[in-house]
Amino acid sequence: MGVAEAFDAVAAGYDAARRRLVPCFDAFYGTAVEVAAPPLRAALAAGRTPEVLDLGAGTGLLSSLLAAAVPGVRLTLVDAAPKMLAVAAEQLTGRGVPHRLVAADLADPLPAGRYDAVVSALAIHHLDDSGKRALYRRAAGALVPGGVFVNAEQVAGPTPDLDRRYHEVWLAQVTALGSDAAEIAAAEQRMTYDRPAPVGEQCRWLAEAGLAEVDCFFKAWRFAVFGGRAPD
Ligand SMILES: C[S@@+](CC[C@H](N)C(=O)[O-])C[C@H]1O[C@@H](n2cnc3c(N)ncnc32)[C@H](O)[C@@H]1O
Repeated sequence: MGVAEAFDAVAAGYDAARRRLVPCFDAFYGTAVEVAAPPLRAALAAGRTPEVLDLGAGTGLLSSLLAAAVPGVRLTLVDAAPKMLAVAAEQLTGRGVPHRLVAADLADPLPAGRYDAVVSALAIHHLDDSGKRALYRRAAGALVPGGVFVNAEQVAGPTPDLDRRYHEVWLAQVTALGSDAAEIAAAEQRMTYDRPAPVGEQCRWLAEAGLAEVDCFFKAWRFAVFGGRAPD
C-alpha cells in the first residue's frame, strides 16, 4: 500500500480523529489561516477573487477553514488520494465554496495558475528532502507578487533525542485526548510513510526558493507552521 492508498483507506473517518491526533489542532490550523489570510483579503479589496492552492489537501480541512475565514476565495485542491478528495468535494459543495479538485502527485507540475496563497497541512513531509525543496521552488514560483506560502507541518526534531521526545510527547497527548490503542497503531502505521525534516532547514529551503519574511509562526513539539511571502 502506498501513502495515497493508506489515506484513502481512512478517508471516511479521517476528520473525526483529527482533534485527537493533532493535539494543538486549533492553534496549528488557526495560525496557518492567519498567515494565509492577508493576501486573500487584499485580493478581495482589489476586486479580485482570491486564488488558493492547497497541496496534499486531503479532505480539505485547511481549505475549509480558510474559506470560512475569508469568504469569497476559490480553492484548488491537489491530492493523490481520490477518496480523500471526494470527502473534500462533498463538504465544499455543501457549503457552496467554489473549488476544483486535482488528483495528482505532489511531484507533478502544479496546476496552472497564479495563486494568492499556496497552503499545505501535514502532507509535504511525505516527500523526501529533495522533493520538498523542489516543491517549495515550484510553490514560490506559483505565487502572485505578495502572495503567501504556508506549511502547517509535522517536522522532525533537530536531533535524534529530540525527535524521540517529540514522539513521546505526542503519544502522551493523544492518549490523554482519548485516542485508543487501535487509533494510535493505525496512525503510527501511516507514519511509516513520513520523511519529516527539521523546521530550521525547511525555512532555509523556503528562503532559497526566493521567499521573503520566512518565519516559523507556531511550533508545539512536532507540529510547526512556517512560510514566507513572495516579493512584491
Ligand atoms: C495527513 S493528510 C493531510 C490532509 C489535509 N491537508 C489535512 O490537513 O487534514 C496527508 C495527505 O497528503 C496526501 N499526500 C501524501 N503524499 C502525497 C503525494 N506525494 N502526492 C499527493 N498527495 C500526497 C495524502 O493522500 C493525504 O491526503
